[in-house]
Amino acid sequence: MKILFLDQSGNLGGAELCLLDIAKPYSDRSLVGLFVDGPFKSLLQQHHIPVEVLATQQITVRKQSNLLQALGSFQQIVPVIINVIKIARVYDLIYANTQKALVIGAIASFFTRRPLVYHLHDILSKEHFSETNRRIAVTLANRFASLVIANSQASQTAFIQAGGRPELTTVVYNGFNPKIYQPDVSDIKQLQQDLGLEGKFVVGHFSRLAPWKGQHILINAMTKCPPEVTAILVGDALFGEQEYVQQLHQQVANLELENRVKFLGFRSDIPQLMATCDLVAHTSTSPEPFGRVIVEAMLSGKPVVAAKAGGATELVEHGVNGFLVEAGEPQELAQVINTCLVEREQSQTIANHARMTASQRFDVTTINQQIAQLLAQY
Ligand code: UDP
Ligand code: GLC
Repeated sequence: MKILFLDQSGNLGGAELCLLDIAKPYSDRSLVGLFVDGPFKSLLQQHHIPVEVLATQQITVRKQSNLLQALGSFQQIVPVIINVIKIARVYDLIYANTQKALVIGAIASFFTRRPLVYHLHDILSKEHFSETNRRIAVTLANRFASLVIANSQASQTAFIQAGGRPELTTVVYNGFNPKIYQPDVSDIKQLQQDLGLEGKFVVGHFSRLAPWKGQHILINAMTKCPPEVTAILVGDALFGEQEYVQQLHQQVANLELENRVKFLGFRSDIPQLMATCDLVAHTSTSPEPFGRVIVEAMLSGKPVVAAKAGGATELVEHGVNGFLVEAGEPQELAQVINTCLVEREQSQTIANHARMTASQRFDVTTINQQIAQLLAQY
């Protein structure tokens, strides 16, 4: 099957990293069309997946855009649509991986009569999207998509609650290659030394810097933990959240935590960095649609504490394969950190169990087979 994958981002967000794994088995007969140039294009090229940037200018409509702003972006969208329609005729199926990709994919699907699959990576709720954006996504998916693949039950439920047709939807979790999360021990020692983490109890936070990802909650929790607890914040602002980045640095300075909170920026060595951690914290203040970092922590054999909402509650069972705390509650988070600090053996037993179950539940080979079976219907 020849697939035209569409994704609006040039950056490496979770949806893009997920698409990388989905597109791989089709690399000899498919194309990933992006709406902007960036590191995602280079990563696809490194993996020998054909990729093309299909837009000549950026499409500026955002998650919280109103109807006028959305209509205003129409001028930017038209050339991309024309381009996609031309290209789509050579392919058997259009696979839209983001919201803007859905808009363009839906129109292209209409004109080329190619089936459209929408991979829904978002919770279409008020917290995340404007009314206009939600309405556009749901209307287009209902009208043009043959299938909506939701990345969790939480995303599926929100889609249906927003008016999406339930019969279109199916849940497929992100897949991972467990082997990647077993890096060389010597690399880890070196990394620990380079980052000055030796002898510390390291709490890792792996996420783009954005207010709803809640890095500020972890920083706050650090004030309630003993001095040997150090946090590494891995990730950068991918979608223009510079103000939040400044706030985080200010918060660290105000709380005099400069020696205990390290900002590492965007990194490509996530498995190695996770291996330097004693605990991985997920702190999203709005429900997380899926939460790749939670699974990655499990595959790394590290205890993980996650905010109890959205997809995270499908991944973590408190006290069994990780810990759940109320979203936005630094006190609760600090309690889990302090428990893991004291009861290392117990939390490691939980982490070992998580590693074993996650390796099976999220194995990329099985997940890709599941997707192949779904796509084979069209
Ligand atoms: N990630 C990365 N480098 C960083 C920070 C994060 O490669 O510096 C990866 C992380 O390992 C995960 C993805 O980005 O695979 C983020 O996905 P997630 O589902 O956790 O959140 P999203 O950003 O997609 O909402
Ligand atoms: C989105 C979501 C994230 C999810 C990822 C992969 O970026 O925000 O929760 O893990 O897609 O599906």
